Parts: sequence; C-alpha cells; structure tokens
Amino acid sequence: MKNNMIATQYDGKVLTEIAGFSISQLVAEQGSPIYLYDAEMIRERCADLQVFETVRFAQKACSNLSILALLKEQGIVVDAVSAGEVLRALAVGYSPTSNPPEIVYTSDIFDREALQVVAEHRIHCNLGSPEMIEQLAEVQPGAEVTLRINPGFGHGHSQKTNTGGPQSKHGIWHEQLPACLERAKACGLTVVGLHMHIGSGTDLEHLAQVCEAMEKCARLVGPSLKTISAGGGLPTVYRAGQTSMDLAQYHRLWDAVRNRLATEFGHAIGLELEPGRYLVAESGYLLAEIRAVKRMGENLFYLVDAGFNNLARPILYGAYHPMAICPVGGRASSENRDVVVGGPLCESGDIFTQEDGGVVSRRSLPTAQVGDILVIGCTGAYGSVMGSNYNSKPLAAEILLDRGVLRIIRHRQTVEELIANERSALETVVTR
Ligand code: LLP
Repeated sequence: MKNNMIATQYDGKVLTEIAGFSISQLVAEQGSPIYLYDAEMIRERCADLQVFETVRFAQKACSNLSILALLKEQGIVVDAVSAGEVLRALAVGYSPTSNPPEIVYTSDIFDREALQVVAEHRIHCNLGSPEMIEQLAEVQPGAEVTLRINPGFGHGHSQKTNTGGPQSKHGIWHEQLPACLERAKACGLTVVGLHMHIGSGTDLEHLAQVCEAMEKCARLVGPSLKTISAGGGLPTVYRAGQTSMDLAQYHRLWDAVRNRLATEFGHAIGLELEPGRYLVAESGYLLAEIRAVKRMGENLFYLVDAGFNNLARPILYGAYHPMAICPVGGRASSENRDVVVGGPLCESGDIFTQEDGGVVSRRSLPTAQVGDILVIGCTGAYGSVMGSNYNSKPLAAEILLDRGVLRIIRHRQTVEELIANERSALETVVTR
C-alpha cells in the first residue's frame, strides 16, 4: 500500500505497511497497543486548507508536543481549552503575543488555574460565558477579546458533539450579545473577535447556516471587530459512502461574509478556521494484537489488547473506525469473516464494533488468529487524547512516522508511573 492511504482503501482488508513501515515489525519491536501517526498525511491535510489565511488547530483532538510542532512548521496556529493546553502550546514555541495571536484560550469557564495562566502569559481569550468578561478584565485590564456565540442552532455527528442550540452549554446565547457587549465595555475590554462553532462532524449545509448568523452578530459588534472564526467541525471520511466536504465552496461562503463586513467597517477582517479532526484523524492508526479468537453462539469475537481505555469513540458515540488485519509471519488470509471486535477491559461495552446506543454489530474482516495485528484507522483525532487508565491500563505509546524515520513521541506509560501519585493508606498524610 502506498503512503497517505484513505480509510476506504484498507477498511476490511489485509494491511501490512503504514507509510512504508512494516506493521508486524513495529509491533514486534515496540509492543502493543501503539498509536502511529503518519506525518505526511498531516502535511497533506494542512495543504488542503491553505486557502484559509488562519488555520487554528483545535489541539484537544491530538495534543502531543511532536504533533503540535509538526503543525507549527506548516504555519498552523493553535486553540487551547485549558491551562494544560496553553502550556503545551508555549512548550513548542507558539508565541502568545503575535498578531493574530498564535494561541487562543477558548472555553466556557476559567478555572482558577487557567485564569492564572492566561494572565501570566497575556493569552488572547475567546469567552464562552458572560461571567468570563469580568473575570478576565480583572487579570487582563484593557484586553482585546473574542466572544463565542451560540447562534441558537447546532449540528454534529452525534448529539454529544452538537455544540449549538439551547441544549448546549457552549458559548454566549446569541440574544445576550448586546448585553455582553455592554458588559465588556463597562469593564474596559474591547471585543475584536467573534467565534461560532456549532458542532463536530457536521456537513456543508449546516456549517453554511452559521455564515448568516455570524454576519448578524458582527453588525452588533460594529467596527471594533477585526476577526471572525468559523470554528471547527470539518468532517472526515471514516467509511465508504461518506463524502468529503467541498472546501473551496466553504471558503467562498465565509470569504463573502468577511468581504461584506470589511466593506461595511472600512477595514480588513481576518477569517479563521478551527479544525481539529480534519487535520489529524486520518494520520492516526491504533495497532493492537489479537489475543483471543472465540465463538459466543452465532458471534465470532476477535479480542485485542486495546480497549476503550485507548479509543473511546466507539463506546461514546457508536463511532465507526475502519479496520484492517496485519497477519504476522507472512500468512495472507484469503477470506473475510463477520466478526465482533472487543478489547481487554472488564466491561461488556468494551467493543469497537458498536453502534450508537451500544448495539453490538459485526464487521467483515480477514480471517485472523492470535498474534495477528488489528489496525484501527482514522484514530488520530480524539484517540490517544481521550485515553484513560481504566482497569489500571497504562496509556499506549505514540509513534510518529516521518520520511522514513520512526520517532517515539510518547513512551508507553509504565504501571509505576500510573501509580506514582498514589499512596497506600499507611503513608497517607492527613490534613485538616
Ligand atoms: N472548536 C471548538 C470550540 C470545539 O469545541 C471543537 C471540538 C473544535 C473546534 C474542533 O472540532 P473538530 O474540527 O475536531 O470537529 N470527541 C468528539 C469530538 C468532540 C469535539 C469537541 N470540540 C469525537 O471524538 O468526535
């Protein structure tokens, strides 16, 4: 298989190489489970978005320092949703004070740690709740700010990723914008940006509705406005039948809004896009070893050594990920079987082939045996970052494949590291 494979090329098939590296050799040397990222795929996705002048990576999708550094090299700036994400961005050399700001803090609250970090580093903030206005003014007097607006509607690949409308906790409700502009003025903040993100994994039709809402809100802000952000949510093709978005058309819609506002306000208006998944999803593969092949009534199960502690998207959203089998020892499996794929966790929901609502489904995969490797694709976004230590499982290793070089960008967590902050009862210090 060639580099930069897309999901539909390998889904349900035998796959022996990723980015020119032998999968079985990688697992033999590095163990499993492993997250692998193909750097070239990330570069290709960055290039797709070149038409947008500012692309701000929603680093919550994949915040490993090496991935951030790779994106920085491609001219991508970042969004941060926590003190930790701000500190990651600073650690790879993003500047907090550039124009446009290379780091923007976007959240619906300031926890105390975040407020302290944004104050210390003068981070530009995108405020998602009215209370944040006074809280920020206290630590960054006279600052320029962006307001995140909930336009009253939203859309996503699952109800859990829909971030607009009255059921969503995100953003400032559109009808409260005039009051929030007053509040900002009263405490000396200047509103220079507006931001709308209606959800993840949506479509052009829904994303386009945002343009109109943005234009309306922008007029309420008036000429202090310098930048509008279309948010993220660009879909990724995970399976056959899904179509990719017409990015040129999407850009045209937003460019027209920006140009109308620029004419009206008499100065240039910056246009930002804030994708997470689009830039990194397809670059990532979760590799796991098949440890049991067993029959339960009419179902045949492949049980692997990665579970929802490594990849939570199937149990959380019934998300579909493409899968392939790498036979170990060079055996080529000749036929497919319909199988259920599960992990090692002591919980029946630990199934990778499930639909929304937890319905277990079957997948056609090549015949495999213990020792073969399951490759779960399109796991670069919201994969490793949503990993947990459930069942005291160490976090998986992360490896970046780039131009023939393999880099370990996070070593596999050890059990010693996992329990390092805990103390047995005898040593526990009691404070009152
Ligand atoms: N901007 C904001 C303000 C966001 O909240 C998000 C995602 C993004 C940008 C990036 O969205 P993207 O382009 O990646 O769709 N864990 C879920 C997705 C949660 C998204 C949270 N916010 C999943 O695995 O599908």
